[in-house]
Amino acid sequence: MIALPKFYITTPIYYVNDKPHVGHAYTTVAADVLARWHRLKGDATFFLTGTDEHGEKAEIAAEKAGKSPKEFVDGIVSEYKRVWEALNISYDGFIRTSDPAHEETVAKAIEKIYANGDIYKGFYEGWYCIPDETFWTELQLKDGKCPECGRDVKLLKEESYFFKLSKYQDRLLKLYNDNKDFLSPKARAKEILNRVKDGLKDISITRTTIKWGVTFPLDKKHTLYVWVDALFNYISALGWPEGQKFKEFWPADVHLVGKEINWFHSVIWPALLLSAGIEPPKKVFAHGWWTSSGRQMRKSFGNVIDPVLMAEKYSLDAFRYTLLKTMPLGEDGDFSEDGLKTRLNNELVAELGNLLNRTVTIAAGFDGKIEGKPELDACLNVKLVDELMERLDTHGALEAIFSYIKIANKYVNDKEPWKLKGAELGNVLYNLLEAVRIISILVSPFMPGSSEKINAQIGAEPGNLGDCVFRPFNGKVVKGEHLFRKMP
Ligand code: MSP
Repeated sequence: MIALPKFYITTPIYYVNDKPHVGHAYTTVAADVLARWHRLKGDATFFLTGTDEHGEKAEIAAEKAGKSPKEFVDGIVSEYKRVWEALNISYDGFIRTSDPAHEETVAKAIEKIYANGDIYKGFYEGWYCIPDETFWTELQLKDGKCPECGRDVKLLKEESYFFKLSKYQDRLLKLYNDNKDFLSPKARAKEILNRVKDGLKDISITRTTIKWGVTFPLDKKHTLYVWVDALFNYISALGWPEGQKFKEFWPADVHLVGKEINWFHSVIWPALLLSAGIEPPKKVFAHGWWTSSGRQMRKSFGNVIDPVLMAEKYSLDAFRYTLLKTMPLGEDGDFSEDGLKTRLNNELVAELGNLLNRTVTIAAGFDGKIEGKPELDACLNVKLVDELMERLDTHGALEAIFSYIKIANKYVNDKEPWKLKGAELGNVLYNLLEAVRIISILVSPFMPGSSEKINAQIGAEPGNLGDCVFRPFNGKVVKGEHLFRKMP
């Protein structure tokens, strides 16, 4: 039996101190689109998301809410799941770091790392940023604040265990060199590469003052640093070391993360894995950030955008489309309702919706045979779209699909089907319906709901990538409502 190609994609596991905003939705929707694309290709796909529940931040938030950490995080986790359902996220696994099975995996991996001689006891003295759960040296601080988020840091002086990250410099450089796509996108690779070349410092991996976390298996007074605990989610969710899913899906094909946590994923994570004798992932892709009114999205700035609200107001698929069409995955962008509305009106209503509407309107008034010879197939390049998706160029893929939609709309203008009848009209309709059927497949990972609506109107079954070729049209057209509604 030949095994199917497999695809394992992950999102970061999100902190549970608050409900998800557009930034969190971005990573999750992008990962969803990629997972759906690989399912279209027939790949055995596993898409993992989840929640990062330990650490000081969750502990403080729970205390503020007057709840135990577990009670508190349970509430936020349900909120995450509700949002992912509202955004039509097709995850296959949802990992929670408070799951006892996850905690056992982490302890087991730490024991292996210790047995490998990579953990030693020392004393930590430095600064800690609670919102980012990150350690900084005095030199790294910017005006005495966290260099990443600009918030206050707190001085830590405590006994701690350390991981010998410094030992892994050469092996990491070799990993990046042997796997040219490991650090993605290219534009961000240099920064990591230079920092690793400059030399790596060992990292503190335990705390004595935090109780809400995985107990350090080698010294029970200590709790494991939340980031080390969190990174292991990617294998605990697969049942490492013996689980069937681990055997089937590891190594991960893509860890999709925001740029601010690239270091943890591109440097610390592969070093931990190498130390534990586990193969590193194939690729870490660090995407850019959405700002809102030009600033980082933050509650205290009053500029946080609720993804569910956007989906309710402008339609879910217009929201998903806007997230991926506005800029390439590696770049930053500013999120605005005006931008969303413009895309909805000018691209979804005027191009995709219009094409479907014109096609089914003409078909509804035609009682001849819908058949002919392919004319609209020549400008369709499914292979190109697939290549772009393989490179995680979701933006480029949408551009390619939408330029084909434009071509199909131009075909209607050029052929003037309202002036045609009989076999000539049947031929034009054949071409349009086949184009629409294929477009529906290609947009389905981005806009699954709209694809279903298109299929219902042209009487097509959901297809896969292999169905994106012109063939005899055998659907039954049932004209329905407009796909998208124009917003004033
Ligand atoms: N818990 C850690 C990740 C551990 S993974 C082993 C964490 N969580 S987080 O809740 O802060 O989520 C961070 C992720 O959310 C980012 O890496 C990014 O994927 C997404 N985003 C959060 N805000 C964002 C924007 N404003 N723009 C785009 N994505 C951002 O870090």
